[in-house]
Amino acid sequence: MAVQDTSGIFDHAVEVLRENDRGTYTVPTKGLYPFQWNWDSCLTALGQSHVDEARAWTEIETLFEHQWPDGMVPHIVFHVFDDGYFPGPNVWNTGRPTPTSGITQPAVAGFAVRRLFDRAKDKALATERALRLLPKIDLWHRWFYQNRDPKGEGLVAILHPWESGRDNSIDWDQAFERVPTEGIEPYTRRDTQHADPAHRPTKAQYDRYVYLVELFRGLGWDNTQLHDASPFQVVDPGFNAILIRACADLADLAEQLGETAIAEANRERAERGLLALETLWSDEHSQYRCRDRVSGTLVESHSLGGLLPAFAAIPQARAAAIARTVERHAQTARFLVPSHDPSDPRFEQKRYWRGPVWLVTNYMVADGLFAAGEREIANRIVQSSLELIQESGFAEYYDPLTGEPCGGGRFTWTAAMVIEFLDQAARR
Ligand code: GLC
Repeated sequence: MAVQDTSGIFDHAVEVLRENDRGTYTVPTKGLYPFQWNWDSCLTALGQSHVDEARAWTEIETLFEHQWPDGMVPHIVFHVFDDGYFPGPNVWNTGRPTPTSGITQPAVAGFAVRRLFDRAKDKALATERALRLLPKIDLWHRWFYQNRDPKGEGLVAILHPWESGRDNSIDWDQAFERVPTEGIEPYTRRDTQHADPAHRPTKAQYDRYVYLVELFRGLGWDNTQLHDASPFQVVDPGFNAILIRACADLADLAEQLGETAIAEANRERAERGLLALETLWSDEHSQYRCRDRVSGTLVESHSLGGLLPAFAAIPQARAAAIARTVERHAQTARFLVPSHDPSDPRFEQKRYWRGPVWLVTNYMVADGLFAAGEREIANRIVQSSLELIQESGFAEYYDPLTGEPCGGGRFTWTAAMVIEFLDQAARR
């Protein structure tokens, strides 16, 4: 291990990963999230790989064992019964052998697998396991462009805010106005029993989350129908950038492993995606913006979703502009990177994805800014992340103004990202 860690954070992070390890998958945290989450697992594998490479590959493999026949990889796999979470398997009712949700999450797997491969000490193991995952990840990428980009724009839409991973962002407010709050079955929220209700989505937002789930369920989770039937179709630059990065990384890896057809298909997806992403750029905001595909308008919201494209190979000038935007946030926020512009009156420092800092998104923004040569601000993001851990422990997320820990505690992907940050810091 290359980590120079005098304060024992590394060991503590490993302990958090172990605590949440269920053998072949890891739960995000006990209580609040008792199942396997898609992008949590892929990012968790990066942390695990510093301790046990084989276990890290298993984390992603377990997720892909539950890939749907059409290629979709669900956002939650309900491996065990636990009634502490809403909406549980019977609400989704997707009919899968092991119950899963019916929507997806940001496609970080392609990126994670390439990173696991690149730094694997056991190259034979990595080659064998990467070769098994490549076609599955390729199928998922194909699924995205077929089902979520029916007109071939080069960008995919999310059909539910939970797909973005930034569940409660201000980005969704405008499109959410179209989603009814009536006509849904009565339900009891469980999130507010585990976390402070003032930090969680409002009742009206939750009703709309449930409305969409019931609408899609009524269509038998047939992905060839859901896109056009959904009143919520948002083209999120962050979500697309992650997918574009994953396509590019999968292409590189496939090329190295002699899988030329997979390499070509993914290279093409990444190139088209990068070109199309340009249509979401806003000079005025110095970042990308979401497009509401139903109304055709760009969304007036300056969120982290518009900074995440730094993670993909966007033009240098765009990455530099994003770096300046993050620096501007740093004038108000003590900790980087807030999930929403702190100077926007809608910013809420503690409410889910409407202001707080997450270490996973910090990791992706910093990774992109390092690659773009914006080292100073990228280093500040890493420093900020490590300071948060030292001050406030391994929380789900943090208040960017005070550093206060929020949401669930002893959180898996936070611990995984800390291991990654320590490793990177030691190598720099
Ligand atoms: C919340 C987050 C989502 C994450 C999940 C489990 O729903 O918004 O991004 O995957 O928790 O940690």
